[in-house]
Amino acid sequence: MHPVTPSTPADQNSELRHTPPPLAGNVTELERLRRELDVRNCALDAAATHFIIGDATKPNWPLVYLNRAVARDYGYESAELLGLGPATLFPVDLNQLQLEGLTQALTTGRELRTEMRARRKDGSIFWVGFFIAPVRDPAGHMTHYVGIGADITARLEQERTQRQLQDQLYSEMQERERMAIELRLAQKLESVGRLAAGIAHEINTPIQYVGDGVAFLQSAQADLEQLLEAYRQAFKRLAASEPPAAVIQSVEEAQAAADLEFLSVEVPKAFERTLQGVERVAAIVRAMKEFAHPDTNEQSPADLNHALETTLIVANNEYKYSATVETQFGALPDVMCNVGELNQVFLNLIVNAAHAIQESGKDAASGRITIATAATRDGVVISIADNGCGIKEDNQEKIFDPFFTTKPVGRGTGQGLAIARSIIEKHGGSIDLQSTVGVGTRFIVRLPVAGRSAAQSSKTSQVA
Ligand SMILES: Nc1ncnc2c1ncn2[C@@H]1O[C@H](COP(=O)(O)OP(=O)(O)O)[C@@H](O)[C@H]1O
Ligand SMILES: [Mg+2]
Repeated sequence: MHPVTPSTPADQNSELRHTPPPLAGNVTELERLRRELDVRNCALDAAATHFIIGDATKPNWPLVYLNRAVARDYGYESAELLGLGPATLFPVDLNQLQLEGLTQALTTGRELRTEMRARRKDGSIFWVGFFIAPVRDPAGHMTHYVGIGADITARLEQERTQRQLQDQLYSEMQERERMAIELRLAQKLESVGRLAAGIAHEINTPIQYVGDGVAFLQSAQADLEQLLEAYRQAFKRLAASEPPAAVIQSVEEAQAAADLEFLSVEVPKAFERTLQGVERVAAIVRAMKEFAHPDTNEQSPADLNHALETTLIVANNEYKYSATVETQFGALPDVMCNVGELNQVFLNLIVNAAHAIQESGKDAASGRITIATAATRDGVVISIADNGCGIKEDNQEKIFDPFFTTKPVGRGTGQGLAIARSIIEKHGGSIDLQSTVGVGTRFIVRLPVAGRSAAQSSKTSQVA
């Protein structure tokens, strides 16, 4: 049963009080009263609203009047219900205890509104809303109660359906959000997997430099060790007063064997190359670490020129055979962002550019990817352009659809741009393109310096 709520007291005069009419013992007067009652009964029977009157002086509050709507909706003959208590009609919600509570409330209070389950004669249950008011005698004692009610099952059902629809909508939205996150993660894993092979390759070359350099330095050191030994011997022989000419000759022979001139030129070079190799590996490892910036929801200020450089390092193997990259970086303010996510966007755009150049049949010498950045009034703009195959006008809107791809299986999954757009929009930015078939494509990414908060405040101001 819904809580019984005493309604706010109306003004005193609205209280139901009855004064028995003085009977004149006059048959005509009785007849008049009977007819009047008849008319009132007819009116009440015509109503769809439930109307009951019960005797509050007897235990169980038996019904003394019910209109036709009650009999019809509860599936009884009127006569069957007269004399029965309301607990017959509301067995679920109106047990003895609650009936006592109701009596108490009505006796002391004014009127009540309640919603409860009613039972038809055939046992089926429906919901009713009831307004119940006490009727008092002139001395103020409650003699009757009046109930006015209606079947509210349809309304409750509608509310329930509405709530269900809302819940469904909410869980669908959550599911979509979850799927979007999973998709993003899957694509990230996919690109990380692809990058891993390239990075292994990238690291291999400088590691070979380092290996070769160190091997050379090792043999040079052995040569120098021998030369040093020759000097030591020469020193001993001179100390033992051997003739200098013989000593000098043996030193000269040792120097020739060690090829001292060659070593003095090549050893510094070998050190240089080794250090460069080590530095290159360190740079790749650093870039990998930055590229795979841990996923958090937190945004922090980041230098996007640096982020682009990082992405170019880790993706080197993806484009170096198909294009030369030219960067034209302008001075940029730091942008509030999740830089790991933006790296993924840059990677997707750079890999797409490389693919488009391969598609056009160009090579590393003729293929060109130009990456330019510039500051705008309240943000930054990043342009990634290629001289690849271009995009047919028909396809230019579709390319942002999830799973739209023109590439063979294994090369494309059609998620790159869909994810790029969702990440950029999450940052309050936009992505546009200009493309001409056979000439090339330029993607333009705009991001506000303030990051997501800018996106939120611009959304609220749109609503307002
Ligand atoms: N720079 C570009 N030049 C030409 N076509 C492109 C370029 N970038 C994207 N596309 C087209 O857009 C499609 C969708 O790209 P994307 O969402 O990254 O998926 P995928 O690269 O896996 O196919 C590509 O298949 C390609 O047809
Ligand atoms: Mg792609």
